[in-house]
Amino acid sequence: MTDQDIDPATMRKQYRSEIVDEGGLAENPMDQFALWFQQAADSRLFEPNAMVVSTATPDGRPSSRTVLMKQFDGRGFVFFTNYASRKGRELAENPHVALLFPWHPIARQVIVTGTAARIGRDETAAYFRSRPHGSQLGAWASEQSSVIESRGELDRRYAELEARYPEGEQVPVPPEWGGLRVSPEAVEFWQGHENRLHDRLRYVLDGEKWRVERLCP
Ligand SMILES: Cc1cc2nc3c(=O)[nH]c(=O)nc-3n(C[C@H](O)[C@H](O)[C@H](O)COP(=O)(O)O)c2cc1C
Repeated sequence: MTDQDIDPATMRKQYRSEIVDEGGLAENPMDQFALWFQQAADSRLFEPNAMVVSTATPDGRPSSRTVLMKQFDGRGFVFFTNYASRKGRELAENPHVALLFPWHPIARQVIVTGTAARIGRDETAAYFRSRPHGSQLGAWASEQSSVIESRGELDRRYAELEARYPEGEQVPVPPEWGGLRVSPEAVEFWQGHENRLHDRLRYVLDGEKWRVERLCP
């Protein structure tokens, strides 16, 4: 290590925030998420809908990446991707998934575990049509997660598509592209506090009902 390097072991922040107590929580995790998501947005966090999605192969080899959560409601969290990508293939074989929203500036994180399933083609088409023209072409140009010869090859594919579908022309939805909805089985709300005495409140699905348990920090 050189003198200029930052040593992460010495980086320490004291978190100051309100105690989260069980009585003040919503009855179900999606309503609680809606509240925290609004507060994250109100705090002007950069992309509060960015979340880390972790998947695993059937024999338990994990992988993680960031995606943008585009919809949430009582059924769960939706993101859009290429079904033939690494995550898409892993989820097709093993639907168990973890999501993590890392809201560091407000000393919060939300961790979801559950299962992922493809949303309907009509839902995917509705969202695809709401995307900018360039992003629609990008979805066609990229065989996500596959090896490509060069950046130039990607640009060449994009230029071809641009010629075929100029601005204003409707771009069809790529067959391998679409949404995945994560139905939660457990959702943990983490709020940082002083002296590492953080709040960790986890909703766990108990049959049809959500139960809340407190975890040691
Ligand atoms: C802020 C951010 C947002 C991203 N959003 C998405 C997204 O919504 N969908 C997506 O497929 N990839 C998204 N990516 C790219 C993924 O992190 C990843 O590189 C890609 O999906 C391929 O992952 P895989 O090979 O593990 O399947 C995003 C990356 C970043 C940094």
